[in-house]
Amino acid sequence: MRKKITIIGAGNVGASTAQLVAKEGIADVMLFDIAEGIPQGKALDIAEACPLWGSAVSVKGTNNYADTKNSDIVVITAGFPRKPNMSRDDLLHANADVVKAASQAIAKNSPNAIIIVVTNPMDAMAQLAWKTTEFSCRRVMGMGGILDAARFRTFLAWELNVSPEDIEAMLLGGHGDQMVPLPRFTTVKGIPVGEILKKKTLGALIQRTRSGGAEIVGLLKSGSAYYAPAAATFQMIKSILLDEKRVLPCAAYLNGEYGVKDLYVGVPVVLGKEGVEKVVEIKLTRDEKTLFRASCTAVRKLVKKLAI
Ligand code: NAI
Ligand code: 2OP
Repeated sequence: MRKKITIIGAGNVGASTAQLVAKEGIADVMLFDIAEGIPQGKALDIAEACPLWGSAVSVKGTNNYADTKNSDIVVITAGFPRKPNMSRDDLLHANADVVKAASQAIAKNSPNAIIIVVTNPMDAMAQLAWKTTEFSCRRVMGMGGILDAARFRTFLAWELNVSPEDIEAMLLGGHGDQMVPLPRFTTVKGIPVGEILKKKTLGALIQRTRSGGAEIVGLLKSGSAYYAPAAATFQMIKSILLDEKRVLPCAAYLNGEYGVKDLYVGVPVVLGKEGVEKVVEIKLTRDEKTLFRASCTAVRKLVKKLAI
């Protein structure tokens, strides 16, 4: 039997993710939203593209959580995106209500699912989903680092005039303004970028990566990025579903790793059929540790506001 993926939130990120899953034909898709007609309409549109893609998966839309029953993976993209001059953190309380309701429904309908949280502020929302569902922390994670790393790779590729495919980038920390791109572990075919680029140029690319989400919000004016976020979410889905064991930066629960306890934050993990199969620990320099701790403190402040 084919695996089943539910995507909660049939907006820009949710529908784009559904499209990628359907196009690759790796699982049946159930698109859920509170807005009547939206998940049904978008699912029908995607289903009608399947013959053109040579995909035979089922794609359906619903406003009823009962239809999401027994999903293998549930992606939470429901909630509000930010507008110009808003930070991801400004979405905290409005989106917490949405993520809590979604998590309760997942626990009831798909008690064995793996959850990928996308809704912002994502690290805090992943912690909320984990607390609400009481699932093993291996089965609850957040998407952020893959997107941020992809942005860093893009900017580096443009600067160096090389293929982004040949750039590996690593980031740590929360998916927020204090994320920590790691040039020491960011390479062009194995060559650290610090050896190729001037410090000032690299610093500017790091800053552009940190504000990569805001740059797109500023251009779109009514909503935030979704093509790259969907592609990043799809990479996580694929690694779990196909048990690829990719090493990817994701928000994962830390219980002592990196000296951090009881917090979801971005770190490299091994993603496979069990979910987060391993947190990969990198030995950090003193400066990197300082930046990582500052990012963790920012995430922890948000989690405290949730009082969970
Ligand atoms: P969108 O506005 O296009 O879609 C959100 C959807 O959620 C809407 O269709 C809305 O009807 C639905 N929704 C609202 N309340 C709901 C509820 N209680 N139950 C089910 N559905 C509900 O927004 P978009 O662009 O898809 O972004 C979604 C979220 O993802 C935002 O919070 C955004 O900030 C976040 N995001 C996170 C990224 C990351 O890297 N972690 C990247 C991009 C977006
Ligand atoms: C982004 O980084 C909004 O978190 C989203 O584009």
